[in-house]
Amino acid sequence: MRKKGFKDYLKAFLSEDEVSKLKSSLEIVGDIAILKIPEVLASKERIIGEAILKLNKNVKTVLKQESPVDGDFRVRGFKLVAGENKTETVYREHGCILKVDVSKAYFSPRLQFERLRIAKLVNVGEVVVNMFAGVGSFSIVIAKKSKPSKVYSIDINPIAIKYLKENIALNKVENIVIPILGDAKEVINSKLLNVADRVLMPLPAKAYEYLPEAIKTLKNFSGWIHYYDFTHAKKDENPKEKVAKKVEERLKSLGFPIKFSIQNSRIVRSVGPNWYQVVLDIWIKPKL
Ligand SMILES: C[S@@+](CC[C@H](N)C(=O)[O-])C[C@H]1O[C@@H](n2cnc3c(N)ncnc32)[C@H](O)[C@@H]1O
Repeated sequence: MRKKGFKDYLKAFLSEDEVSKLKSSLEIVGDIAILKIPEVLASKERIIGEAILKLNKNVKTVLKQESPVDGDFRVRGFKLVAGENKTETVYREHGCILKVDVSKAYFSPRLQFERLRIAKLVNVGEVVVNMFAGVGSFSIVIAKKSKPSKVYSIDINPIAIKYLKENIALNKVENIVIPILGDAKEVINSKLLNVADRVLMPLPAKAYEYLPEAIKTLKNFSGWIHYYDFTHAKKDENPKEKVAKKVEERLKSLGFPIKFSIQNSRIVRSVGPNWYQVVLDIWIKPKL
């Protein structure tokens, strides 16, 4: 699948100046290619789409991203520019199969490394709570690559849960991944208190607010929280330190009988000029 070099290839169909206006890179999910096309190239959409189809024989559909990830369900708006009119596809990574509808539930191939990184941290027999599971990308990779006993996987979007259920069956992890439709706060407070060895919070927009529930779902206030956030950082600022400081203050202010230490932090990806997605791996234990 060719993603790099697609702009060079487009020079056969567009002028150099037009190609330079295409700022974004190509995102490929299964047999769907996604890119942002600026308004000045609106009349060239079809040509660009057809060129991508020709360049990537495995691509069947080219979608233009029309709106950014937004709303509670974290979905994007798309317009078909070439190929089959569809938004559903099958994506494969790390030996896992993920059926997704890119317009109805969140999915990003860019988190591939992070999913495997987390899966490798999971110990045999662990109970994991994924508070914002989507179609199950983290949960399925964890279930297939490690040996957890359960991965409770919560999402508020009914369509994400529908795909999560399909992905559980496709990957034969029915005994491990448990889909739960609902708001993570309500689900944890009503049925997942004091159960987890590890908690995932892969929703930067809400992780800060939902930290109390992440602590409450841990077994005996003991275990790991993988906390995701977005932060702006100027050239002289360290994005990881900024997020760590914010989270340390919040954890201290919550009043739980816990000790904590941020054992690892990393920039997951950059999401715009001076904007970063950061993850903190936080170790929690009870204060004795
Ligand atoms: C950024 S996506 C991440 C999905 C998945 N972990 C992934 O990486 O593909 C965040 C998910 O959280 C869900 N969500 C938003 N608010 C929620 C809430 N209050 N409780 C549970 N899930 C929620 C959205 O529907 C979305 O699927």
